[in-house]
Amino acid sequence: MDTVVRIDGLIKKYDNKAVVDGLTLDIQEGEIFGLLGPNGAGKSTTMNMICSLLKPNAGKIELFGYDIKKDSRKVKPLIGYVPQDLAIYGNLKAWENVELFTALYGIKGEALKDEIDRALEFTGLSDKKNAFAKTFSGGMKRRLNIACALGHHPKLLIFDEPTVGIDPQSRNFILERIKDINKEGSTVIYTSHYMEEVEALCSRVAIMDNGKVIAVGTPDELKDLVRRDPSEDISLEQVFLTLTGKKLRDYTEG
Ligand SMILES: Nc1ncnc2c1ncn2[C@@H]1O[C@H](COP(=O)(O)OP(=O)(O)O)[C@@H](O)[C@H]1O
Ligand SMILES: [Mg+2]
Repeated sequence: MDTVVRIDGLIKKYDNKAVVDGLTLDIQEGEIFGLLGPNGAGKSTTMNMICSLLKPNAGKIELFGYDIKKDSRKVKPLIGYVPQDLAIYGNLKAWENVELFTALYGIKGEALKDEIDRALEFTGLSDKKNAFAKTFSGGMKRRLNIACALGHHPKLLIFDEPTVGIDPQSRNFILERIKDINKEGSTVIYTSHYMEEVEALCSRVAIMDNGKVIAVGTPDELKDLVRRDPSEDISLEQVFLTLTGKKLRDYTEG
């Protein structure tokens, strides 16, 4: 299996404080890889560096074997990024939002129309194609945000907290769609502070705190780190608490 993401010694500082602090991580082709950590852990900063939207102070990122600094033109078409902060335009119609992002990759004409329709159908927005994004509910905006990242068939898809602030129905829809995207062959990075989602969705998980990865493994391997006996049924929440001495929920939900 090929390594899709290779991060080595990544550091990002603000005001001389490292918010990503020597992060090292490998993600393999075909994974749904979860990055789990509380608000402020450095998840979004890390994703922004993977997408070349932010420059690291130190460290190296390789995607599909390419150094993203040297080979950014080769790398960019391979990535789809669904940012935590919605990147859609309220004064554009749903289809125009998808067009805007898809056309950036040089897709034109009939192919562009087909990709717009496909992305809207995939996210359950076909019947809202001509509606302005500003009229959408929170869940619909999140889905449109996803549609905008699909048109160019990226081989690596990054979802940064795609289910924050939406109703359970939209949440389940999005999680099912992410599984479908993965089944169709894309590697997925899924960033969240919701442990239940990460546990249900991800083949492997990195637990992140204070800019560092403190443990990596399958959900079961992570639980083994703190289980006293193999039959003990514990949650990733308890793993986090044991490894960090902190409760995830205390400062993510309050
Ligand atoms: N542009 C910035 N300037 C200063 N501090 C920042 C900036 N962006 C993020 N931070 C800080 O970096 C830390 C990590 O943020 P972030 O990557 O957004 O965490 P997460 O996505 O895990 O919630 C936080 O303490 C945040 O306040
Ligand atoms: Mg974030």
